Amino acid sequence: MTDLLTTLEDYRWRFTEAAAAYDGSTSRATDLEEVTASYSRLVTDVRHEADFLRLVREDAPGTAQLVHDLRARSARCAGVVEKYRALRLLDDQDHLSGYFDNVEGCIDEEFGALAPTAGASVLLVGSGSFPMTLVNAARRTGASVAGIDIDAEAVELGRRVVARLAATAPAPLEVALEALPLEELPFTKGATHVVFSSTVAVKYDLLDALHPLTRDDVVVAMRFGDGLKSLFNYPMRDVDPDRWRLVDTIRRPDQVFDIALYEKPGAPS
Ligand SMILES: C[S@@+](CC[C@H](N)C(=O)[O-])C[C@H]1O[C@@H](n2cnc3c(N)ncnc32)[C@H](O)[C@@H]1O
Repeated sequence: MTDLLTTLEDYRWRFTEAAAAYDGSTSRATDLEEVTASYSRLVTDVRHEADFLRLVREDAPGTAQLVHDLRARSARCAGVVEKYRALRLLDDQDHLSGYFDNVEGCIDEEFGALAPTAGASVLLVGSGSFPMTLVNAARRTGASVAGIDIDAEAVELGRRVVARLAATAPAPLEVALEALPLEELPFTKGATHVVFSSTVAVKYDLLDALHPLTRDDVVVAMRFGDGLKSLFNYPMRDVDPDRWRLVDTIRRPDQVFDIALYEKPGAPS
C-alpha cells in the first residue's frame, strides 16, 4: 500500500510538471502522453483497487488532498493531451496513444440501446481540442452534433481539427463548437442526446441545470469513474429524483471511464 501511495505522489508531481511544460507546441508532448498512458493503465488495473480503497478508508493526513489533486491535475492533462493530438493532426503527424484508443473505442457503447440515429441532435459538454465523440457520431449516424468547452483554445483547435477532417471526409462533416454556457447555446433545447465528459468537475451541477433547458425525451450519457477510476474521473453522484432517473450503468472494466445513462422521470418510453 505504501507503494501505491508513493506511486500516486509521483504521478501528482509528474502531472504538475508535464502540464506546466505546455507551450502551444508539441515539443514536450511525449512526456505527458507517456505519463497519461501509464496512469490510464494504473486506474484500470483492478489489482490496485483494494489498496486504493484502504488508503481512502484510513484517511491518513494528506490522502484526500492527494486524491483531489490527482483528479484535478490529470483532468487538466487530459485536456492538454487532446491539444497535442490536435496540433499533430494539424501538422500532419497524427499519433494515437492508448488513452485515445480507449476513448474512441467507447463511442458505440456510449448510449447502448438508446444510441443516436440519423435524426438525432447530440451535444457534448467538454468537447476538448479533438472532438472525437462528435466527429464519430456525425460520421456514423448522420446526427446533428455540437460541443461546448470553457477553454477557448480548445474550441479554436477543435474547429481547426474539424475543418481538416472535413476536407478529406467522403461526406460533409459539420460539428458546431462554442465556448458558450449550456443555457446560451440554441442547440441545447433541441438536443436528443447529451454527453458529459468525465473530467468536467461540475458535470452534476450542469446536469441539474440542464433539466429545464431540454426536451422531455432527452437521454444523457454521464461519463464517470468511481473507486480507483476516481483518480482520473469525477465520480457518480446522486441526482434529484424529480429531475433525473438513472436508467442504466455501463461498466467497462478495461476503459478509463464508465457511463451512467439518465432520462427524465416522465420521459415517454
Ligand atoms: C479533455 S476533454 C475530454 C476528455 C475525455 N474525453 C472525457 O470524457 O473526460 C475535457 C474538456 O472539458 C472541458 N471542461 C472542463 N470543465 C468544463 C465546463 N464546466 N464546461 C465545459 N467544458 C469544460 C475542458 O476544458 C476540456 O477541454
